[in-house]
Amino acid sequence: MSEQKLVLSDPATGKQCELPVRKGTHGPAVADIGSLYREHAMFTYDPGFVSTASCRSDITYIDGNQGILLYRGYPIEQLAEKSNFIEVAYLLLYGELPTQTQLDTFNHSIRYHTMIHESLRDFFRGFHYDAHPMAMLTGVVGSLSAFYNAAQDTRNKDDQEIFAHRMIAKIPTIAACAYKHSIGQPFVYPRNDLDYASNLLHMLFAVPAETYEVDPVAAQALDMLFILHADHEQNASTSTVRLAGSSGTNPYAAISAGVACLWGPAHGGANEAVLNMLEQIGDVKQIPQYIAKAKDKNDAFRLMGFGHRVYKNYDPRATVIRGMCHKILQRLGKENDPLFELALELEQIALNDEYFKEKKLYPNVDFYSGIIYKALGLPTNMFTVMFAIARTVGWVAHWIEMTNDPEQRIGRPRQIYTGAAQRDYLDPAQRD
Ligand code: ACO
Repeated sequence: MSEQKLVLSDPATGKQCELPVRKGTHGPAVADIGSLYREHAMFTYDPGFVSTASCRSDITYIDGNQGILLYRGYPIEQLAEKSNFIEVAYLLLYGELPTQTQLDTFNHSIRYHTMIHESLRDFFRGFHYDAHPMAMLTGVVGSLSAFYNAAQDTRNKDDQEIFAHRMIAKIPTIAACAYKHSIGQPFVYPRNDLDYASNLLHMLFAVPAETYEVDPVAAQALDMLFILHADHEQNASTSTVRLAGSSGTNPYAAISAGVACLWGPAHGGANEAVLNMLEQIGDVKQIPQYIAKAKDKNDAFRLMGFGHRVYKNYDPRATVIRGMCHKILQRLGKENDPLFELALELEQIALNDEYFKEKKLYPNVDFYSGIIYKALGLPTNMFTVMFAIARTVGWVAHWIEMTNDPEQRIGRPRQIYTGAAQRDYLDPAQRD
């Protein structure tokens, strides 16, 4: 049987080029353009990488038209209902669901690595009290590279594993320190007898002057949000980690690049932007005015939490969070939250509006996550930090996959040069 090929012809020369077509487990056919420049002196142009696969990956699959998200083949809905974040982290890192013994060993290792070096804690004191927690997270995660640098061999499997465990274990501790610094409270040490989400809540909300009891409902909600946010294939921040890591840089520095990218409002910063938008809208009566602004080409306003590069259908994570939002608010006694009511109404109006229907703009994961974070008592500027904690697992899994990929090379896109044509330098007196 002949191998499928994509044939392109150059109208100028009439020369044809044959590109091999690759196929993954799921998803569309992919033309392999790797030889295009070498053999035909031609590049492809794809701003925003809309039609470009940057790598092969076994980790996560998204079908944006059907609204399907699979971690290592398992549907996100099943994992959200039956699994927990630590088990999902194991699955993403190692490729299979763990046996009980594997899970216990992994869980123990993550709990064991939660503390950060005392000198690293001192770094926070250098930040101004009103620094954004994402700014602190970016800086301090990058600074981990100064503590774990010596003899780091990025291709050594043991070094990779210890990096993965440290990164996943320490990111909640760093995140909690950023929060405590911003509100002027003392840092709280991790408690290794608590599960991942409960320990984070303890580090965020406990104070030395009082006994703090972790609310199991809050911990369960957080754990589920972390499962939903853990990975999302080659999104902007994960691609950033891969690109930074492709140079062979220290892996903690590569993760810090991912944190910086996630911060933007078009990516992980959207959960913060959604809450700000809902507060700005303020009342159901104002919704039509804001829908009109979102549709106006001359207005920069966008409906935050709507639209996605890949999903042209309901984001499956948004469906799970929406259902959870009702339950959590009820169990926390906040079911009449006006922001949630406003969000539901906004969602209905947008979903029935021709503009949003035609452009296939559906609510994404961030439309509801902020409402839950708010109900848990987190300030708006911590929402993206919570996202970063969960996504760290995905970043680490992708960094390991990239580093071990025999096809891996330094990432180096090309460009269409549109600047001045070659010209000669003139002395200042000759320029007018
Ligand atoms: N409100 C109003 N119009 C929108 C929105 C929106 N939220 N999103 C897209 N559009 C319109 C665009 O104006 C554009 O219209 P046009 O074709 O007439 O020019 C069209 O829909 C396509 O939008 P693009 O920006 O080209 O789509 P892209 O795939 O590049 O961007 C993105 C996707 C960034 C998510 C975009 O939908 C957006 O800005 N949404 C709001 C921010 C947000 O919620 N981000 C979180 C994404 S999920 C995550 O990262 C975890």
